[in-house]
Amino acid sequence: MSFPVTRLRRNRRGDAIRRMVRETRLAADDLVMPMFVRHGQGVKHEIPSMPGQFQFSPDTLAEEAYAIEQAGVPAVILFGIPDFKDAVGSESWDEEGIIPKAIDAVKRRCRDLYVITDVCMCEYTDHGHCGVVKNRRDGILDVDNDDTLDLLIRQAIAHVRAGADIVAPSDMMDGRVGAIRRALDDARMADVPILAYSAKYASSFYGPFRDAAESPPQFGDRSSYQMDPANAREAMREIELDIEEGADIVMVKPALPYLDIIRMARDCFDVPLAAYNVSGEYAMVKAAAQNGWIDERRVVLETLTAIRRAGADIVLTYWAREAAGWLAE
Ligand code: PBG
Repeated sequence: MSFPVTRLRRNRRGDAIRRMVRETRLAADDLVMPMFVRHGQGVKHEIPSMPGQFQFSPDTLAEEAYAIEQAGVPAVILFGIPDFKDAVGSESWDEEGIIPKAIDAVKRRCRDLYVITDVCMCEYTDHGHCGVVKNRRDGILDVDNDDTLDLLIRQAIAHVRAGADIVAPSDMMDGRVGAIRRALDDARMADVPILAYSAKYASSFYGPFRDAAESPPQFGDRSSYQMDPANAREAMREIELDIEEGADIVMVKPALPYLDIIRMARDCFDVPLAAYNVSGEYAMVKAAAQNGWIDERRVVLETLTAIRRAGADIVLTYWAREAAGWLAE
């Protein structure tokens, strides 16, 4: 049926009908708030390239987490900034390390808020790579896949022992989901889900995060382990392998430049799908908004809706708390 029998504008003439025919809904339930934590007390240090985001100490983190829980956001994901970095990132599995302290503080303050922890070596290594760096036979330095798995396991176990509700490996080593799953099961931690950063691209959009987490690679880049932005089919293989290895939730990262990957993943797999609206996506909108060039609130709600429409069930976003507030109005 075409015009004049069909007039698509009929369903747009009023807020009530627009609400009735809306295909995609955005709610606080869909959001996860990323947070940065370092040692100390009373710390609330704004990250220059991420206005409105902070490095917290465990005490101030717990207060902020409480406000996030009150806003209706179900979970936070924690990134730790250690006091001490070395070649293998040993603070990452220390039971007195920054993440166990942070989890403890949040758990004392919040009732139901889920604490997800990012499991990766890059914040903890002095070279800033996501694993153990070794000399290859040809003399080139490279991250050793299989040696890194053991360290990721130790880190994941330390987080769960401290009370993490979900662990989220973001290193992009092959086989890490299976290795962590087996280790958790052997340690009687079989009920803890794994959120896998399955299709994580070697993206320039992580720049502000690396300032926030103080984790830029000191040489080279991450392209020998993170995915090539040009590849889409390969992302489906990454996701498929992670599901076979036991991932409970899979993730695509970044979100906005990879909406096609989110859609493909949604069409190919039935597992819960997350997408990470990363630091560079945040910084761009903030910068434009501070210049008065765009309306931040409307752009953010449109962006988060687009990520959901592309097929993500869960969106990790630095706007989680604020967006939950806007959605409640
Ligand atoms: C690695 C990690 C990174 C991000 C999340 N986990 C950085 C990287 O891979 O270099 C980026 C998140 C963001 O940019 O918001 N631990």
